[in-house]
Amino acid sequence: MKGVVLAGGLGTRLYPLTFATNKHLLPVYDQPMVFYPIRTLVEAGISEIILVTSGPHSGDFISVLKNGKELGVRHLEYAYQERPDGGIADALLLAEDFAANGNITVILGDNTTDANIKKDVDSFKEGALIFLKKVGDKKELGRFGVPVFDTKDAGKIAAIEEKPKEPKSNYVIPGVYIYDNNVFDYIRDCKPSWRNELEISDVNNQYIKRSTLRWAELDGFWSDAGTFDTLYQANKYWAEKGRANEK
Ligand code: TTP
Repeated sequence: MKGVVLAGGLGTRLYPLTFATNKHLLPVYDQPMVFYPIRTLVEAGISEIILVTSGPHSGDFISVLKNGKELGVRHLEYAYQERPDGGIADALLLAEDFAANGNITVILGDNTTDANIKKDVDSFKEGALIFLKKVGDKKELGRFGVPVFDTKDAGKIAAIEEKPKEPKSNYVIPGVYIYDNNVFDYIRDCKPSWRNELEISDVNNQYIKRSTLRWAELDGFWSDAGTFDTLYQANKYWAEKGRANEK
């Protein structure tokens, strides 16, 4: 299994922090943000990774990540997304050659988690596997893809709504996905959304349509770090965990 880290976008919600560098290189406690998703992949046994980036500071990654060896990456590739805000699915399309007809585990560059997904990666065969996380604060739901469960079979996802105004469940879909190689055809079938992005929720809905999407709950801490609040929360969590481990 190969891994994809999506680290494009403009990080506008973190202006002025992201005027000078890429969002994913901002600190989360004692490491650049992007180290966390890379470690999630490496801990799942994935050592061939492509990082897709974009925007005015994309060159900054090389001096931080170099060839990835310090993080346990055996082969690190970079790809450049021409439209920096083309959407998550637009960025993922750039990983097609790298995937070489195989399955891929995808993680967003601003997501940090201590969940170990190795068994999900190892047992994955085909279709799509997404993860769900229950949220306590209902206001959070409107920032994410939210699953709508089947009325007849509560274990089944009937659809995914992107940033819904009236969310139909208390779960969000974190930025960690495992896909078979059909994902690239499904992206090509997607049309830009109202915000002119190729949405990953539309891609996931294509798997749902074909009854090939499964889900699992993501164990442990998970947060994105793309807003001031979540950047602070992620820093706090990893700082406390880091200090506890030092004791
Ligand atoms: P977002 O947080 O939705 O977008 P952004 O990073 O541009 O931030 P903002 O909304 O504040 O301007 O993106 C989530 C992750 O997806 C981000 O960590 C990087 C990745 N991404 C891409 O790789 N390409 C893209 O075109 C977009 C929109 C996001």
